[in-house]
Amino acid sequence: MTALEKKSPCKVNLLLNILGRRPDGFHALETVFHPVNLCDQLAFTRGSVGIQLTCSDPSLPTDTGNLVHRAATSFLRAGNIREGVRIRLEKKIPLAAGLGGGSGNAATTLLGLNELFGQPLPAAKLAELAAALGSDVNFFLQDQPALATGRGELIAALAPFPALRGASFFLIHPGFGISTPWAYQNLARFPAAQNGTPGRARKLIQQLQAADLAPASQEFYNSLEAPALDKYPILKMYQAFLRAHGAAATLMSGSGSTTFALFQQPSLAEAVVEPFKAKFGENCWTAVVPV
Ligand code: C5P
Repeated sequence: MTALEKKSPCKVNLLLNILGRRPDGFHALETVFHPVNLCDQLAFTRGSVGIQLTCSDPSLPTDTGNLVHRAATSFLRAGNIREGVRIRLEKKIPLAAGLGGGSGNAATTLLGLNELFGQPLPAAKLAELAAALGSDVNFFLQDQPALATGRGELIAALAPFPALRGASFFLIHPGFGISTPWAYQNLARFPAAQNGTPGRARKLIQQLQAADLAPASQEFYNSLEAPALDKYPILKMYQAFLRAHGAAATLMSGSGSTTFALFQQPSLAEAVVEPFKAKFGENCWTAVVPV
């Protein structure tokens, strides 16, 4: 049987404004997600019993410790499907990176299996399964920029931003990851960052809907930079360097450690790769991705 192949993209948060800790332990937030066309690859084949997951990256678990496995389990259970499935995951997106790689893999698994088995589950059910798998999973059930609220699972899709037309992302992973629970726990040491005022997301969105990126550049904000940049000042140095080299905006994505810059033209982003590596070393992972 031929496999169903699906790309699994990642994201950056153009803004992540945390609005306080909720009684359930999660944090209320408003965030602006933007898709990034840097993709893992998933292949799904029906047959046999149970879930057989294989992965190109030996450091990732292939059992219930992998979000793909958990997504497949919840899909088969919700669809009352007895048949098994084989899944192959080819990783390209760095791990523990704030790029939502694992969340995207989980969403792509829900969408892929729903296609493979003839769409047994409606969109609302997929959204419910996605939210149970993680706060960022729902965003990846669709492919537009989005405003997310709640704990990140309530998604309002947005039209592509005119201010980002023709721009490129320059992404840097420094070679160490930051765990999401660590970032949220340590946010408690920064009460102003933990208890942001709502409205910043709408303001950024309004500015990105204009034709020019320059006025929006001051509005990029991430509450989780408070604990992350305090522990890893190298991330601050990256941002200063990128701004000095013409970046229109820089920010850490999600809970980090990936830091990104937006350049108004791909050539400006390409031109910073070598100077960046000369300054910070060849061990950093970098990628230039058109918006
Ligand atoms: O939902 P997800 O599995 O990505 O969350 C991982 C951890 O990040 C949670 O267990 C929680 O500690 C923290 N988190 C949070 N508030 C959010 C999202 C995540 O506190 N809105």
